[in-house]
Order: sequence, then structure tokens, then C-alpha cells
Amino acid sequence: MDRFIIRGGKPLRGVIEIGGAKNAALPIMAATLLSSGVNRICRVPDMKDVRTMYGLLRHMGAQIIEGGSAEIDTGRINKYEAPYELVKTMRASVLVLGPLLARYGQARVSLPGGCAIGARPIDLHLAGLQKMGSKIELEAGYVIAKAKRLKGAVIHFDNPTVTGTENLIMAASIAKGNTVLENAAMEPEVKDLADCLVSMGAKIYGAGTSIIEIEGVDCLAPIDNYAIIPDRIQIATFMTIAGITGGKITIKGCSLEHLEAVSEKLREAGLQIEQTTEGIKVKGGREIIARDIKTMPYPGFPTDMQAQFMALMSVARGTSIIRENIFENRFMHVAELKRMGADINVDGNVATVRGVKNLKGAPVMATDLRASASLVMAALRAEGESVIHRIYHLDRGYERMDEKLIALGANIKRVSD
Ligand code: UD1
Repeated sequence: MDRFIIRGGKPLRGVIEIGGAKNAALPIMAATLLSSGVNRICRVPDMKDVRTMYGLLRHMGAQIIEGGSAEIDTGRINKYEAPYELVKTMRASVLVLGPLLARYGQARVSLPGGCAIGARPIDLHLAGLQKMGSKIELEAGYVIAKAKRLKGAVIHFDNPTVTGTENLIMAASIAKGNTVLENAAMEPEVKDLADCLVSMGAKIYGAGTSIIEIEGVDCLAPIDNYAIIPDRIQIATFMTIAGITGGKITIKGCSLEHLEAVSEKLREAGLQIEQTTEGIKVKGGREIIARDIKTMPYPGFPTDMQAQFMALMSVARGTSIIRENIFENRFMHVAELKRMGADINVDGNVATVRGVKNLKGAPVMATDLRASASLVMAALRAEGESVIHRIYHLDRGYERMDEKLIALGANIKRVSD
């Protein structure tokens, strides 16, 4: 298991590039199952969750050439299952359920694992598919779904679920008749998937809003050089790193589109953020000012940035109230940040962060993907040396983060056992 050894205290400066969004790449890769032939996808990020999805598609019979421009040939799919061994580390593997069922009339998908940040059920995915005419059974930890041909339906989500919306858009795109998704997730990654499906011949209207209408078509063409949107969470993480280290970072070729809520809070916290033709320029302020946040579905403040914002607030002037509204168990980074000297109290889904002057290096343990990013941030700021164990969590969703940090002047070393 890899770990990072970080000596903190250096303001990070320089220019970096960010690749495609993990949360758009995974559904778009799953969408290749809706067609037969060679799919070409551009700006595919190189990270562990993406490699897990390659493994899953290969298991089903896909031929794959990996890379930034990836080729996924779905002409010989012969297994319609996602086994536990492959999906236990990645909840997003549930994204193959909708496409398999719509295209092949059957799917056997292990119940998802992934980050241990709460119960994270998939009841809304299953209820939607049932409404479209699928039979669904749960057997020994597997979802077994069958349908002759899915039929369009009106589906109302009690919660706007991101992967649930994506599963149903994919299923509905080749179902018979029209589907309406109400209270759908509005995340940019949902819109990116829909744009990709439209480029394959799907008829989808309203993606990016809370009501999405899909007119089912008989078949879709393979993906022809569709480029995935940049990863807004990685961009926002590096913006926050500029803030916590008092540095100056340019994120090349990226825009602040999709980052409104985060950049507003970071500006209020004292960061200077500028959109230029080169990209986003972020400069840490002289001091960090405490600000409150509450996580919300898009366009609100993303839960995937909560831990990183908390790291920033741990060294702010004043007290910050952080309310986590999406996942019930997403404060596991708190105990580790406290080991580094942060002053944080948790009561239910509310964390009260009293800013301290500085953090101190310590050995800490990464517990989930975004929590690991917050620990890296804290270590980059802290006095002395930190060792961050279980970096595999970070590698799931950050593309070569250590190399990018070294390019910005960080003192960080990856050690493998
Ligand atoms: C996706 C993102 C993840 C992000 C999250 C919220 C991917 C691959 N992952 O996860 O990075 O943190 O959105 O922005 O895109 N829920 C139910 N029943 C369901 C489904 C969800 O009750 O069937 C609840 C969840 O417990 C949670 C809320 O709905 O409280 C939102 O979860 P959801 O949007 O589904 O998260 P994911 O799609 O798993």
C-alpha cells in the first residue's frame, strides 16, 4: 500500500493541467455498452476508478485500448454481469446496470461498494428500472434484472441521485417510447453523459435541468471521438491548495464554468481567482477568512469538496460551520485533521471548525477519496513531516496528484511497500 511523505510549509507555485472528469468518464464508458462497435473517447483520465471500469468492460467481453484517447470495442459482449470482486471498490460500477438491461435484456450486478461514506443505497435506480418494466430480484448480494424491452415511463426521484439519473437516461435512450425523469440530478457530468449519448444518436432534452425527457430510439452508434469535460473537483482541489499554502497556481486551459459555488466561497475566504485566456489563476490571500458552507446538489456547494474546504478552514481566521447534507458519514477526515492540530467538533451532520494558526505534521490515514485530498492539503500546509497512509483512496480519483504537486514545488514522496 502506497503512502505519501510530505514536508509542509512551502507556498506552491506554477502551472498544471487537469484531465477529464472521473464522474463523467465512468458513465460515458458504461454507455459504450449501448452500442456495438468501436467507441472512441477523448480526454479519458488515467486513474484507478477508470482502470476498474476498463476491467469491468473487459470482463464482459469488450476489447480495449487504454489511453487519453481510448478505444472500447463492444462488438463481442458476451457476459452481462458485474462481479463483486470487480465492483467492490467502486460504487460507480452500478452504472453498467441500465445499459446492460436496455441493450441485452438482462444484468447481474453486485451491490456496490466504494467510499465508506454512508449507506448509499441504489433503491432509486432499481425503482426507476422497475417502472420501465424490468423484473428485479436481489440474490446473494447481487441485483438480477431482466426485461424483454424496457418501456418509457414517468419517473420521479425522491432525491436527485447522480448515478441514478445517469443509469435511467442510458436505459431510456434505447427503450420503447418516451421517458420523463423528474427531480433529476443537474450535475455537469449528467449533462456530459447526455451530450455524449446525443452524439451517438439518442434523443435527450433538458439534461442539466431537473426535468429530462428522453425519446427512445431503436439503436445507438458507437461513440465517435467524444471529449470528456475537465474534472471540476480536481480543479477546485488545486484552487484550494493555492489557498492553504498561500501560493499561486494556474490551472491551464480550464474555465470556472461549473465552479460557481466553490469559487464564490473561496473568494470570500480571501483567495484571488481570475479567469484568463490561459486558464484559471488562483492566488492565496495573506490570511484565510472563515466561511460557512452547506453541501447541496449542483449547483450548490459539492459534497466532493467538503473535506478540502474543511482543511482550508482549519487554518482560517474565525469559526466556520460546515453542514454536510448529502452523505451521513462524510466526516471521517475530521479525526485525522485533529491529529494534525485542527480544532473541529462534530455534532451530527454539522462540523464546527475553529481556525488555528498552523497545523503540525503527523502520521494520518486516508479513509475515502476526497478525505485523502484534505489530508494532503493539510500536510502541505503543516509544519514538519506528515505520512499519509492508504493513498490508494486518493489514486481512485486524482490523476498523478504527487507528480503535479512536485511540479508546483511541493516536498512530497510516494513510498510503496
Ligand atoms: C455521485 C458521485 C459522487 C458524489 C455524489 C453526490 C459519481 C460516480 N459519483 O455519487 O462523487 O459525491 O454523486 O454529488 O458520479 N440515494 C438514495 N437512493 C438511491 C441513490 C442515492 O437514497 O438509489 C441518496 C444517497 O444516499 C445520497 C443522495 O441520494 O444521500 C445522493 O447520492 P447520489 O447522487 O446517488 O450519489 P452517487 O451517484 O453515488
